[in-house]
This record gives sequence, structure tokens and C-alpha cells, in this order.
Amino acid sequence: MENKKRKISIIGSTGSIGRQALEVIEKLQDKFEIIALAGGHNTELLKQQAEKFKPKYISISCHPELVSGYHNAKIYKGEEGLEKICSDKENDIILVACSGKIGLRPTLTAIKNGIDIALANKETLVMAGDIVMKEAKKHGVKIVPVDSEHCAIHQCIKDINQVDKLIITASGGPFLHKSIEDMKNATVEQALAHPRWNMGKKITVDSATLMNKGLEIIEAHHLFGFDYDDIDVVVHPQSIVHSAIEYVDGSVIAQLGLPSMHIPIQYAITYPERFEGIKSKSFSFAEIARLDFEKPDYEKFPTLKLAYEMGKLSGSATVCMNAANEEAVFAFLDGKIKLYNIYEITKKMCDEHKVINNPTIEEIFAVDKEIREKTKEYISKLQ
Ligand SMILES: NC(=O)c1ccc[n+]([C@@H]2O[C@H](COP(=O)([O-])OP(=O)(O)OC[C@H]3O[C@@H](n4cnc5c(N)ncnc54)[C@H](OP(=O)(O)O)[C@@H]3O)[C@@H](O)[C@H]2O)c1
Repeated sequence: MENKKRKISIIGSTGSIGRQALEVIEKLQDKFEIIALAGGHNTELLKQQAEKFKPKYISISCHPELVSGYHNAKIYKGEEGLEKICSDKENDIILVACSGKIGLRPTLTAIKNGIDIALANKETLVMAGDIVMKEAKKHGVKIVPVDSEHCAIHQCIKDINQVDKLIITASGGPFLHKSIEDMKNATVEQALAHPRWNMGKKITVDSATLMNKGLEIIEAHHLFGFDYDDIDVVVHPQSIVHSAIEYVDGSVIAQLGLPSMHIPIQYAITYPERFEGIKSKSFSFAEIARLDFEKPDYEKFPTLKLAYEMGKLSGSATVCMNAANEEAVFAFLDGKIKLYNIYEITKKMCDEHKVINNPTIEEIFAVDKEIREKTKEYISKLQ
């Protein structure tokens, strides 16, 4: 990295990725200056972060009065705050680490202002991958993935034209070796008990149904420009091989590492340089001892098949799938539906959706809104 400090803002600093990013930045204090931090509802944590990291300004989705009263930082609210952060050209890079559709508009604003992106928010590409990647190219902006699988592929690829296919690994989540019956009766607590990763609730439920992997194949399609038939998923319970690529000559290059999000976060915000930073111990093959791989079970995890289908349909199909799934996950977390209903509801919304080809951003948000309302209404009638 250049000698001067890299100026960074974090959207979603109070979340799982955001908090870990601040731990990385704390270790690399001489490399970063924080311009802004943005959170949703966790005013207390945002205030503590602001006191510690002293950003120029902060943004909160509600009650800005609750974060006032510490040094001289300006305070903004809601989407206006996110827009303000993402149009501030003082930023060298913005880490988009909020969850859900809220990440899309700020990411596009940052891109249009020529600011590089470290992208954790996968919904941005699932909803509007074609538009986002086109804008990034037009404005010469780098999008470096934070998701460990895409970060792995990013690290493996030297010449993309010589790559035949992408191989995305999946831990398989808490129900990997459980029966479909067990999944059908799963409690919220069981669905949130991910064996490898400690993440936000939405992505943890998506990992239990494997929808997370579905979102990731769509993300990979947009980030690396591969057809869906050239993106494979393999279950790898140890989460040591974070993903791989196969070259045209049959050589396979994989990226390995301990299952810690600190590593891909640090990679994304320091790219193209590398530092010791957050590294706590050296990797040991002997300690890991074995690596297992198996095919995904599409009968038990039909969401993965649905994601391939919607990805291939493209247009607004993935917007519909994302919105219906997200509302169904919230309903599951609220105890309104069972885990397996998430797939059934999402599939129903996708089956009934009339796909718009090449949707504009406004059409994307309109479909998102319509499907969320329809999904919520459908769920309310189930009770
Ligand atoms: N966690 C992981 O290991 C992981 C790995 C790969 C990819 N990802 C992706 O990264 C994203 C974040 O995941 P996560 O696990 O970190 O989620 P999370 O723990 O639920 O955090 C979400 C963050 O978004 C913030 N937020 C919500 N609404 C907001 C709004 N209107 N304005 C600004 N910020 C808002 C939350 O703020 P409050 O908490 O203050 O409400 C929180 O900071 C997701 O897209 C996920 O798929 C996560």
C-alpha cells in the first residue's frame, strides 16, 4: 500500500463483518484513516466505535440523537447518510458490510464517484450485478470481494481467460448430515448453530438452507463473468479450502486458510498489498489432518437448485428470489414459519414472477418492494 494512509468508510460497522473489519484496522492503524462509520440500530456500539476510531462523521438508520455528544463528528441519518458517505471522494475505499438490499444504492453511488469497493454485501450483486459491474468498469473502480469464497477465487485467478471453471466450497451448515425431517422440525436456535462461522442471523439461516451458496453462485457469475454451468459447488465441511478454480489444462488452484473472516476482510481492504496484520497463527496441514468433499444434496437443499435456475433466467428473477427469501427468513426468525417453508415460499414467489429482462435500477427496487409485500401477505395468511 502507498505510504499514505488509506482512507476508508464502513457501511455496517456494527455488524459481524463490520466489527471484524475494525479489529483488522486496529491492527493496521498506521495504514488506515477512517472517514465514516455507518450502522443500523445499534446506537450504543456505533457510539463506542466512533469514540475509539474518531471518524469524521457517522450515519445511523434511526435516532441520530442517541449517537450525538462525542467529539466533533457530524451525524447523518438513514439513506441520506449512506449517500453522503459514498459520495465523499476523500474515501479511497468503502467496505459495504451492511446486510440486505440497503447495500445496493450506496455501492452504486460510491462506484459513480470512482471509489473502490470492498464488497461483503452479496445482495448488491444478486439484485443488480449487471448494472453494478458495468458501472464499475465504466468508472475504473475495483470491486474486491470479502465473501471468503469469492476472495479465494480472486486470489487464485492470474489470467481469467485460461480458467475453465470455478469451484465454490460450502460448509454444508448445521444440517449437513441431518435428515430432511430434522430440517423440517428445526428450531431457530438449531438453524443459527453454524458449525464453522459466527455470522449475522440472516446469512446464518441462509447457510442452513444453502441459499447462501445460491446467492454466492450468482455473486460469482457477476464478479468473474462465468456461465452458471461453469460454476460448481462442492460441500467441504472443514471450511479450510475456501474455493478453487480449474484451468483449461486441468490444473486446479485452491486457496486455503483457517476459517476466519479476518483474512478475507484484510485482503479486500488492503488489496493488492498484504500484511501480517490480524494473523494469529501459522497454517498447519498436519493439524488439520483431513479435508473432506462431497456433492451437494439438491433434494435436501432445493434452494441451491432454485438459485441456479433463477440465475440462468437472469433479469429480475434473482431480485424476486432474494426478496422472497429474505422476507421468509425474517418470518422464520420471528417464529412465524418453519425452516423448510422458506424454500416453499421463495419458490412460489419465483414461479409466479413475470421476469423483466435487463431491469433498470428503479425497476429492480420496484420488483423488490412488490415481492416483499406479496411474500409478507402470503405468510400472514398461512397463520
Ligand atoms: N458475517 C459473515 O461472516 C459474512 C461472510 C460473507 C458475506 N457476508 C455478507 O456481509 C453482509 C453483512 O453480513 P453480517 O453477517 O455482518 O450481518 P449483520 O451482523 O447482521 O450486520 C449487518 C450490518 O448492517 C447494518 N445495517 C442494517 N440496516 C442498516 C441500514 N439501514 N443502514 C446502515 N446499516 C445498516 C447493521 O446495523 P445494526 O446492527 O446497527 O442494526 C449491521 O451493522 C451480508 O450481506 C452477508 O451476506 C457476511
